[in-house]
Amino acid sequence: MNNAHKPSETVDRAGIASRLDRPLVLVGLMGVGKTSIGRRLAGALGRDFVDADEEIEKAADRSVSEIFEEHGEAYFRDGERRVIARLMEEGHGVIATGGGAFVDPETRALVLERGVAVWLDCDLDTLVERTSRRNTRPLLKTGDPREILFNLKEQRGPAYAEAQIHVVTGDGPHDAAVNRILEELAAWL
Ligand code: S3P
Repeated sequence: MNNAHKPSETVDRAGIASRLDRPLVLVGLMGVGKTSIGRRLAGALGRDFVDADEEIEKAADRSVSEIFEEHGEAYFRDGERRVIARLMEEGHGVIATGGGAFVDPETRALVLERGVAVWLDCDLDTLVERTSRRNTRPLLKTGDPREILFNLKEQRGPAYAEAQIHVVTGDGPHDAAVNRILEELAAWL
């Protein structure tokens, strides 16, 4: 799986794009890079990209933090489930989801049936460092972020592991992760 040394040109992007008839859905913990990697992945395949959290914010006309503050997590999860179902229906190329989305059994079943789930995974230190750059994640404000991320990694691991594709990314450039995903996809399709 460690093919980061290969230049990305060795992956047949056009071949993958022509065989791929379902949305690629990026899942994994906060800070793993789902949005940045998803955007680049979509570009590499000539597909559109959509970020589920952004769509939830647009639909609610509120930030994720405001939704958590005003209505609580259960309300956010309801909206998240509905928005992702809509995005799946609309048939986007690449969809980045919030870290908790794929843990929901209904969302997970839908994504596994109608899409290709790509679990992006990395070490705890990288997650802690990356999430510390922004103050927009309500779940990390309730205690020590490292401890919270450690626990979420443990709790959510089994759900993420159901994804069809698993790519471990390092703290290196996102393009290396994109290349790794493309190689895994080429082998899987
Ligand atoms: C969450 C992750 C966030 C966002 C919300 C809850 C989670 O998205 O959906 O703060 O439960 O892990 P990112 O994974 O894009 O940070």
